[in-house]
Amino acid sequence: MARKKISVIGAGHVGAHTALWLALKELGDVVLLDIVEGVPQGKALDLMEASPIEGFDSNIIGTNDYKDTAGSDVVVITAGIPRKPGMSRSDLINTNVGILKAVVEGVAKYSPNAHILVVTNPLDVMVYAAWKMSGMEPHKIMGLSGALDGSRMRAFIAMELGVSVEDVHAMVIGGHADEMVPLRRYATVSGIPVAQLLSPEKMDAVIARTKKAGGEIVALLKTGSAYYAPSAAVAEMAEAIIRDKKRIIPCAAYCNGQYGVDGLFIGVPVMVGAGGAEKIIEVELDNDEKKAFMGSVAAVKGLIADLKIG
Ligand code: NAI
Ligand code: 2OP
Repeated sequence: MARKKISVIGAGHVGAHTALWLALKELGDVVLLDIVEGVPQGKALDLMEASPIEGFDSNIIGTNDYKDTAGSDVVVITAGIPRKPGMSRSDLINTNVGILKAVVEGVAKYSPNAHILVVTNPLDVMVYAAWKMSGMEPHKIMGLSGALDGSRMRAFIAMELGVSVEDVHAMVIGGHADEMVPLRRYATVSGIPVAQLLSPEKMDAVIARTKKAGGEIVALLKTGSAYYAPSAAVAEMAEAIIRDKKRIIPCAAYCNGQYGVDGLFIGVPVMVGAGGAEKIIEVELDNDEKKAFMGSVAAVKGLIADLKIG
């Protein structure tokens, strides 16, 4: 059976680490693309030189040309710039949409059947823009949000309880922003509701930390944002597609009436498999959770209103 092909657009922090996780998982051959000449080539070669040590047989190449991405099964988009001083959120959105437009054109031309996983921020707006600009079927486009935010929440619960991260499950829905919605009622340790193990005050602290977790890393790093957990999370999504795992992964997916949302990408629990976003799972939300989720939806809609797709 021919190996799968995964292209990662943007060979910066998240992109290069995504290539590493994909190779370690031997999900297929990896193409790393960036506009900067030499960087994707250098990082790809460096990764290839690690392959004998780790024993992975993925072929990894770096390129500046979309031709090399032709026929990709999955494309991960990390290309973009972070917010710079003096730049409004709307400026950032439209700069990154401009970058995304060039990326989507290259991807749609050479890999029209690929699944697209968007990482670039502001996430929920970028995944919507990628869908609009590509004309691709919405179930083949997803954005990285809950896979990362939920992993952070799991890590914080495990740290608090001193238990294995393997036994902790937690779900975060809504947009990938401060308005995200960590679902405390659905957090469990080996099936035991976390409320039986952790005080409400400690759980409040876990939830507050989860919502600000991206910012906590930015404040520590001083330049740039998180990349180990984000790249691991998007590689998990790619794996679910390539291995047709039918994983239930919260991520930004196209809602077509589910959760009362229509025509928008927002973080919801999704069955992810070879068909992409195969099914949105509608969990029961109480009034507070519904209110928080709809607040998050409104925030994303507000950002989309600033969008200029030319
Ligand atoms: P980075 O600055 O290290 O890498 C971005 C790369 O994109 C650079 O190598 C740059 O040369 C490249 N690039 C810029 N324009 C391009 C174009 N037109 N075509 C191809 N490549 C292009 O940034 P990092 O840390 O890798 O983050 C990437 C993006 O992912 C940012 O927007 C960041 O906010 C976002 N992010 C989103 C997360 C999520 O959960 N959705 C988590 C972490 C990061
Ligand atoms: C994060 O959550 C910056 O979105 C990025 O770390």
